[in-house]
Amino acid sequence: MKKTVLAKPTKEIIQKAKELILSGEVVAMPTETVYGLSANAFDDEAIKKIFIAKGRPQDNPLIVHISNMEQLEKIAYVTPLAKKLAENLWPGPLTMVLKKKDCISEVVSGGLDTVGVRMPNHPVALELIETCGVPLPAPSANISGKPSPTKATHVLDDFDGKIDLIIDGGECEVGVESTVISIQQENIESEQLSVHEERITILRPGAITANDLLEYCDRVYVGNGVLNKLDENVKVQSPGMKYKHYAPNAQVIMLDGNFKEFCDYVYKNADENTGVLVFENEESMFEDIEYVYTYGREDDSLSQANKLFDVLRQIDKNEKVSRVFARMPKKQGVGLAVYNRLLRACGFKIEKLKNPYIVGLTGQTGSGKSTVCKALTDRGIAIIDCDKISREVINKAEVLEKLVDYFGTGIMYADGTLNRRELAILAFSDEENLIFLNSVMYPQITKVVKEQISKLKEKGENIIILDAPTLFESKANVLCDKTIAVIADKEVRLERIVKRDNITKQEGKIRMKAQHTNDFYTDRCGLVIENDGDLQSLEQKAVRVIDSIKQEIQEKSQI
Ligand code: TXA
Ligand code: MG
Repeated sequence: MKKTVLAKPTKEIIQKAKELILSGEVVAMPTETVYGLSANAFDDEAIKKIFIAKGRPQDNPLIVHISNMEQLEKIAYVTPLAKKLAENLWPGPLTMVLKKKDCISEVVSGGLDTVGVRMPNHPVALELIETCGVPLPAPSANISGKPSPTKATHVLDDFDGKIDLIIDGGECEVGVESTVISIQQENIESEQLSVHEERITILRPGAITANDLLEYCDRVYVGNGVLNKLDENVKVQSPGMKYKHYAPNAQVIMLDGNFKEFCDYVYKNADENTGVLVFENEESMFEDIEYVYTYGREDDSLSQANKLFDVLRQIDKNEKVSRVFARMPKKQGVGLAVYNRLLRACGFKIEKLKNPYIVGLTGQTGSGKSTVCKALTDRGIAIIDCDKISREVINKAEVLEKLVDYFGTGIMYADGTLNRRELAILAFSDEENLIFLNSVMYPQITKVVKEQISKLKEKGENIIILDAPTLFESKANVLCDKTIAVIADKEVRLERIVKRDNITKQEGKIRMKAQHTNDFYTDRCGLVIENDGDLQSLEQKAVRVIDSIKQEIQEKSQI
């Protein structure tokens, strides 16, 4: 066991750090982003000590820290764009992945032919590199998988007894690690000429944002591992992104919803071991929760970046907390870095709180319901078509079997498919028959409806129309936030269905007899659309209804 010294960056301490580094040891140094575990770039044995101390996989390359531009030229091939970025954004929280020169060994580069380089914007880090006279590879000074350290005491928590020296430079100003970018050549074909242009891909977001980079380059892409969990077989552009990161022992779950939805969810789901991770000034809403943590202000991503790792470490230390519900940060600007880190702390677990607003739309056959639906789909509203589901469900083997048992083989064609017309005649001519048919069909339809609702919720739809002629009979109305009926005059409806379904007037009348009167709907629905004008006025009515629902949703979400 080493005796680990934690000391302020005096002249003597910087000298001591230099001696340790040049004799092949590892020293923790402050940077403006997070603390780093540094060693001599040209001493493979020293670099190996970093990997061992951190428990870091060997294929995860290190960022090499430099203090002047000569060092950059020495270790990497510098493209024109890289030069421009270095001149303008260094020293600062930006790491550029460039083609490496031979003096950078594969131990440092994790076997890649590139090297990540950055000039940190911290006087102590710059002084230490300058004093040592060699570039210093320095990964974040945490045990692999733990949150990065933003205070010297965090480093001590992870490496006490394992390294000789931690230089205490106070709290890190930024709080999340640097933006890592790669630079590629892209062929731009224009009308006559083909030019090579450099483009940037953000491999890890940080305090230098996509917008900052767009000042110097026309194209900035966000790498595939930034917002998504990558499949095992997908080639990851930055090895660090594939490892589980920053995760405290407690399970952290990010809740995607507004503050009111967050509170409702917490009240419903918290137990005595549940903590919350919220924004500053929101604590007072959680008097019943014992473990309330905050990470910055809701509208200030920098303050969130600054607090996040410290708070994740606090959560980690509290053994009583087994689960934490976290507020979701905005993904814009520096917020993208905060979101990226919190997403990993959650093991990519996000709970979507926004339940879509479900509108049950019903009415007799021929009332104009389909016209209303079409007007709404044209305006981008999601529709679940229960008639369509019913046509699919009825062809399931288990359903057909039950129907043939009851109605006889007469409802089937010789080729084994269903004779829908025959079934309809039988079902609509006798009430008991209809009751039987419905008892087979409704549970099957409801099951599919629920599946489709979850899928649309995942897609982020916030209004869903459930187009269900038998909304109340099937009890699907219980799934709805609002129910709407489209009703029309009896004669008009008969005329429409005869034409639409190509049936006789007699058949049409039988079907209509099995249907409810207008009163049935007006008694049950929250809203009634009377289809007593032309097509255009029906469409207008539909749009007005949806606009009022949108407004209702917005009002509901305000606290
Ligand atoms: O802010 C920072 O960058 C901090 C401080 C100490 O400077 N350092 C840091 O290093 O975060 P580390 O090793 O914890 O993270 C380096 C990240 C990893 O995700 C790694 O995969 C990626 O940068 N990286 C390094 N070299 C790379 C390369 N040649 N190609 C692709 N990704 C690279
Ligand atoms: Mg790290």
